[in-house]
Parts: sequence; structure tokens; C-alpha cells
Amino acid sequence: MDLRDICLTMRQEIDELEKIVHANLSSTVPFVENVVGYVIHNGGKRLRPILTLITSKLSGYQGRASLEIGAAIEFMHTASLLHDDVIDSAPMRRGRETTNRKWGNQVSVLVGDFFYCRAMDILVRHGDTKVLRVVTDAVTILTEGEILEITKSNDFQTTQEDYLRIITGKTASLIGAACQCGAILGGVSEEFEHSLKRFGLNLGIAFQLVDDVLDYTAAVEEFGKVNGTDLREGKLTLPLILAISRSTEKDRSIIRKALITDNTSPKEFVEVLRIVEECEGIRDTIKMARGYVDRATLGLASFKPSLEKETLQRIADYVISRKM
Ligand code: FPP
Ligand code: MG
Repeated sequence: MDLRDICLTMRQEIDELEKIVHANLSSTVPFVENVVGYVIHNGGKRLRPILTLITSKLSGYQGRASLEIGAAIEFMHTASLLHDDVIDSAPMRRGRETTNRKWGNQVSVLVGDFFYCRAMDILVRHGDTKVLRVVTDAVTILTEGEILEITKSNDFQTTQEDYLRIITGKTASLIGAACQCGAILGGVSEEFEHSLKRFGLNLGIAFQLVDDVLDYTAAVEEFGKVNGTDLREGKLTLPLILAISRSTEKDRSIIRKALITDNTSPKEFVEVLRIVEECEGIRDTIKMARGYVDRATLGLASFKPSLEKETLQRIADYVISRKM
């Protein structure tokens, strides 16, 4: 099931969100608008702003600032992906050519900066320094997570702890902030705010674990990205970390060779996938993702029943079952 199907009752708000997204992306330079239009009309899931909308409602907020803050968080996320695709030399995202492939690295980096500035513009206009602090801290942690990942690339000694630290930073931090901002808008207690932040962090960790499984197993048409990218880029994600710790010396040397080769061949990828599957790397990564989804939903146990709580639970289930 698609995220928008889960959020059918929020259709009107999601349409409003799209309007705010567009209203904040105009530029006096036509080329900027051209690229920005390509980037933002790419079938993105809008997971983060949807979470801000739901968590703000769950916290009793009824105003429109959740749409603005959600849009700002989506822009931060978009900025990070435009930069990430340059770092990863990624050719495809959401079923289409990446900006770096279509217009080059310089355009991708600079349009990423444009999204970043527009996000800051919204947050500064909103004027709540607590929201500004939460988002700024999350983006700092996200950047540190990405840098940590680079320092660990091709590193056979990468541990599960290193990996969890990387994905908590690069993915979960902003999802946690999206949920925390909803709580801040509602003016709830610190405990309530902390629970929603934790929900987002656990959900974000599960989201990246599933992403890293899909990089090995997904059909490209569904995933919208080229699979095998992590291995090609020398990224040790959990399926591979588990395989390295459980495989024979012979299989480990096959993995090592595929990891350090820049142009891993399809045959080498299939061979590594075989080892990963034999070592239960896929199964156990999904198992761990389920564990984080369970933690996320258990953290909502003390909230009284509501449509918003139910939607958060359904989003958590979607994160495990998604194919893209
Ligand atoms: C995707 O990981 C990458 C991220 C979620 C974070 C990237 C962060 C930066 C580049 C720091 C710069 C930040 C800003 C705000 C400009 P992935 O490569 O595993 O996922 P993918 O398969 O979707 O590319
Ligand atoms: Mg990437």
C-alpha cells in the first residue's frame, strides 16, 4: 500500500502542503525553477511533512504552521538527497535520471543549496527558535552521519554499532525532528514531545534498514533506484556486515573484491547477494527493522486512541512493507 492511501483522510491537507511547497520555490532565475520543478515533481513520498502534520494534530495543534514547517523539513531532505546523489554518483532516483546525471554535479549541489536556503527562510519567518534549533540540530547530525559513512567506506571492520550510528544520523535524525516539531507546535509536555521524537527516530532507523535491504533485493522498476549501488560505492550496510561476520574466508574474499572494485559487475553483485542470503543477512536485517518498528509503536502505547495514532501505526507498518 502507498503512503498516500494510508493518509486518505488527510488528502486536503496534503494538497495544501503541495501548494505551500510550490509557493516557496519561486526564483528569478528561470533555470532554477526548471530544475526545482523537476526535482520536486518526482513522486516523493512526503513522509517527513506528513509526519509533522499528524504529530501536530495528535498534539492538539489546529493551525497552518505545521504545513509550513513540514515543507521546510521536506526541503532540507531534498537538499540532502541532491548532495547525496553527487556523493554517490547516483544515476537514478524515483525512477528518473538524477539531477546530477541530467545537469551535472554543480547544478545538483547548487540547487540543493537553494532548497536549503528556502527551508531556512520558512523557519526564520515562522520565528519559533525551538523549532529552528530542533531542525538545525537534526541537519547537523544528518551531515555528520553522512561524513561518518564516508570515513567507513570500504572498511571491512565496520561494526553494527558504526552502521546504526550512521543511519541514525543520516536518516533517522530528520524523521525524529519532523515528529518533534509536530509536538512543539501542539505545546505538549516534554515527555509527550520526547515520545514523538523517539517514535520518529525508531521509524527512521527501520526506514533505512529496509532501504538497505531493497538495495540488494528490489526490482529496479519498483524501487526507482539502481540496486547494488551500496556495494558499488563501497558502503557496508547491515546485510553485508552480517554476511562478513558469518561467511567463510573464501566468501569474505569475494565480498572484499566486489566492495573495493569501482565497477562491480552484475555477476559479482549476484555472487555477493548469494552470500548475503546464505548468511541470512537479508532476513536478519528485516528482523531488526521490525524490531525498530515495534519499538516505535510501543512508544505510542500511552497515547489515547485517535485517528492520528492509528495513522502513525499504519505508517510504521508501511515502512516495513514498502517496495520503494
Ligand atoms: C541517503 O542515503 C542520504 C541521506 C539521507 C543524507 C544525506 C546528507 C547529506 C548529503 C548532508 C548534506 C545535508 C544538507 C541538508 C545539504 P543513501 O545514499 O543510503 O540513500 P539513497 O539510496 O536514497 O541514496
Ligand atoms: Mg545515496
